[in-house]
Amino acid sequence: MNSKYNFYKEALKNERLPLAFVDLDLFDENIRAILKRSGTKKIRIASKSIRCVELMRRILDFSSQFQGIMCYSAEEAVWLSQQGFDDLLVAYPTVQASSINGVAEEIKKGKNIYLMTDLAAHLKQIQKIAAESNVILPIALDMDMSSRWSMLHFGVHRSSVWNSATLYEFIEVLKSCPNLKLCAAMGYEAQIAGVGNKVAGKSLMNRIISALQQKSKKELAKRRKELVDILKKECPDLIIVNGGGTGSLESTAEEAWVTELTAGSGFYAPALFDYYSHFKHLPAAGFALEVVRHPQSNIYTCLGGGYVASGAVGKEKAPLPYLPEGIKLTANEMAGEVQTPFIYNGTLEIGDPVFFRHSKAGELCEHFLELHLIKDGKSVGKSDTYRGEGKCFL
Ligand SMILES: Cc1ncc(COP(=O)(O)O)c(C=O)c1O
Repeated sequence: MNSKYNFYKEALKNERLPLAFVDLDLFDENIRAILKRSGTKKIRIASKSIRCVELMRRILDFSSQFQGIMCYSAEEAVWLSQQGFDDLLVAYPTVQASSINGVAEEIKKGKNIYLMTDLAAHLKQIQKIAAESNVILPIALDMDMSSRWSMLHFGVHRSSVWNSATLYEFIEVLKSCPNLKLCAAMGYEAQIAGVGNKVAGKSLMNRIISALQQKSKKELAKRRKELVDILKKECPDLIIVNGGGTGSLESTAEEAWVTELTAGSGFYAPALFDYYSHFKHLPAAGFALEVVRHPQSNIYTCLGGGYVASGAVGKEKAPLPYLPEGIKLTANEMAGEVQTPFIYNGTLEIGDPVFFRHSKAGELCEHFLELHLIKDGKSVGKSDTYRGEGKCFL
């Protein structure tokens, strides 16, 4: 029953705990599944959900259908550009002069980095720096893809540009910025791509979410087309229309006016991505903690473990006990800062590893300097995380 536990225990038996690992066989399987789910659309890699340069290279080398990186900070884009990556879409806006200057320097070298905007304040700051640097900066527009219904805002709060009226206002400001050219548009439908509709024990909520998602998909596809049509007329440099995420690859791929999809979380497949009805990626990443105490017959304690994910606070943000099968967090302590007790009716020795999965993808890498790589049941090396490379962008 615990053959999977023994498999990882054996593979990592000589390594110091705690550690984070990626099972490359499952990771590669997830790459194949993501390619299949995306049809013929190009796929941009969401770096925030990987945070490991070597693994991003592995994905890019796997298929030419993968193209470009979606970065989560301008400084990160500059850093990746300097390591040879190109086609870097920064998905979130910044007005930090030093970050924009860094991007301008890379653009002068011929690299392609797109800074995200949606407000006049973003455009004006980037225009000012571009003019000072005497360069034309390619920018991107974030089109808000949440469904703004009268009784419900279904989605996240992102961009101020969400319909044709707000888009025309944006374009008017853009036209007063001679050093900017709009090359990319991005619309991320978080309410489809990032919300599971098959959560265990929540069948009513699952049905409600699924129904809202169906309605929202239709609404946003129509609106995205309308916005892209306007951009095509008004912005001759537009070459990228990016949409979706791991949870929405199939539906976003159906939109002809979207040129590329984004995927990140599906490669590691963290715990929150177990809860979707239309796909099941394989748990490729996890972390191992050392059992250090045994305070009661069915309670053990391991060292470390409090790697709780960001976002709305809830139990689902705690690490998911993974192996051996049957381990459970205690309701009072959950995953602790320096030690984590857990309930287990089987037998474990002091020093044994226990395995958990983070509820999100890239955040795991903020707690570890390296990822141990497993292939064919053996440890085959390590890759530095961003953190291991001394980088902490956000
Ligand atoms: C702009 C944007 N696109 C795409 C994604 C999808 O990423 P993932 O595939 O990791 O869920 C995200 C995630 O938050 C995002 O912010």
